Amino acid sequence: MKKLMEQIGEELVKAFEKAGYDASYAKVTVSNRPDLCEFQCNGAMAAAKQYRKAPIQIAAAVVDALGKDGVIGEAEAVNPGFINLMVSPEALGDYLNQMQLDKDLSVEKTKEPKTIIVDYGGANAAKPLHVGHLRSAIIGESVKRMCRFMGHRVIGDVHLGDWGLQMGLIITELSLRKPELPYFDEEYTGEYPEEAPFTISELEEIYPAASARSKEDAEYKEKALTATYELQNGRRGYRALWNHIMNVSVADLKKNYTNLNVEFDLWKGESDVQDFIPKMADYMKEEGYAYYDQGALIVDIAKESDTKELPPCIILKSDGAALYTTTDLATIMDRMEQYQPDEMIYLADKRQELHFTQVFRCARKTKLVNEDTGLTFIGFGTMNGKDGKPFKTRDGGVMRLEQLISDINEEMFRKIVENRSVKDKEAEGTAKIVGLSALKYGDLSNQASKDYVFDIDRFTSFEGNTGPYILYTIVRIKSILARYAQEGGVLEKGVMLPPAGESEKALMLAVAGFNSMMENAFEEKAPHKICAYIYELANQFNHFYHETKILSEEDPKRKASYLALLELVRQVLETSIDVLGFEAPERM
Ligand code: ARG
Repeated sequence: MKKLMEQIGEELVKAFEKAGYDASYAKVTVSNRPDLCEFQCNGAMAAAKQYRKAPIQIAAAVVDALGKDGVIGEAEAVNPGFINLMVSPEALGDYLNQMQLDKDLSVEKTKEPKTIIVDYGGANAAKPLHVGHLRSAIIGESVKRMCRFMGHRVIGDVHLGDWGLQMGLIITELSLRKPELPYFDEEYTGEYPEEAPFTISELEEIYPAASARSKEDAEYKEKALTATYELQNGRRGYRALWNHIMNVSVADLKKNYTNLNVEFDLWKGESDVQDFIPKMADYMKEEGYAYYDQGALIVDIAKESDTKELPPCIILKSDGAALYTTTDLATIMDRMEQYQPDEMIYLADKRQELHFTQVFRCARKTKLVNEDTGLTFIGFGTMNGKDGKPFKTRDGGVMRLEQLISDINEEMFRKIVENRSVKDKEAEGTAKIVGLSALKYGDLSNQASKDYVFDIDRFTSFEGNTGPYILYTIVRIKSILARYAQEGGVLEKGVMLPPAGESEKALMLAVAGFNSMMENAFEEKAPHKICAYIYELANQFNHFYHETKILSEEDPKRKASYLALLELVRQVLETSIDVLGFEAPERM
């Protein structure tokens, strides 16, 4: 469906031409003076130079030439040459009626679906999931859903860090704690036990203990490095242990991600592409892209236009070891072979920017990807505590994600019970749903690249720019619709009338902007734009609600129109939060 602004733009093009001016000046924008008008065109000002006329003269001529019974209800030329525009109430009612009949709520899905891989989550196996990985999961999930909503084929890959030193550390620590296990006996040729020699809680205790010890004990660290090397080179007992670590850890990660309403299509990781590395290194050497420098295999990626010097991309270290860059390049090779993606989108801390610049340039230069394969890095800022420093627990430790979620849910539960509209039994489930909205909206409403302050009190508030406020608004609409149904009312489509008052018109205009907002948010992969939109929409709705008697409206046509509008607002809000990755309860 054509966007409202496009329709207005077309009318202006006609009017500019009819008045004898070039159509390129007919650009329309949302008004930056909503007190004066809804849309505006400043083209007369720009045209003034070319036509050597006063802008107001041009604006007046364009206004005169405007069609009188289209989407534009009122137009006015004001000094020095603005064209102020108001949408026709009739056209607005029609527009929303069409929107309600459209299964995509007026959003135009892509005509050329692309295959897009979203690489997000990025948890490191065997390490407890902490808040550092929270943003990747939350923003990535929304970016994935956005791409899917626009009609693309999207594959979400968690890309676990599952091949690094943390594995050697755990193996080393275990070998000291339980030396009798068969995994450490190099002579052992039998089958290994099916059951893991640890539980998730033990595993979560082992890693931090091992990591701390390795920082103090050089010999221990050396052992862990050797164990890592041996694991990567196929030592049988270590591979078996690694499988146990992965099984236990992935089961736990799945539970955590499910609690966050985050779902991956692929559970691949760094370990999956190890066999690609020799093949990839050979290819890069043979094609002349890579060469040895002081023993390391490198690819130059600097460009003349660079303002900062970019170090070459190291493919293999002088001891033959693979690096983070190596695995990411091999993963690109694997993905191109298996899925032929048109684009790959990565979410990681913005401090990894240089890494991704190197990887992307190297992948292009060495032709691991096609010329038109998109490679996009979305770098996010840090989640800080109220003190402005990276978020920590009260005693200064790394906050576990589970802890964070349960803190939010507790606070939410307290607030919901205080509100007292929900039965206790239900309150706990509701607290979880609302708590997730608090956490996700608190994150997503900020531009991803910026740092933000995690503020539990603010995020869980029912007032202001928060997830709970949005859900509260949705629940308010749902309860009106439910009361209407109880009275025997039936929702109808196509019955929306032109708005009766100002607050209704403002609400309808906000609803009509859904399609252009969604397209723009997708273009920029910017969930915060969806948040800003639904916050505005919720405000418009609540304003309308406070001014309007909906269920006690006596004119049956007007009442049916109100209810149709409410239903449409609900759909738009619920569709938006679904793209953001959370949902609304029935009651609150
Ligand atoms: N595991 C990495 C980390 O903890 C994030 C992975 C991001 N994705 C990637 N393909 N490099 O920093």
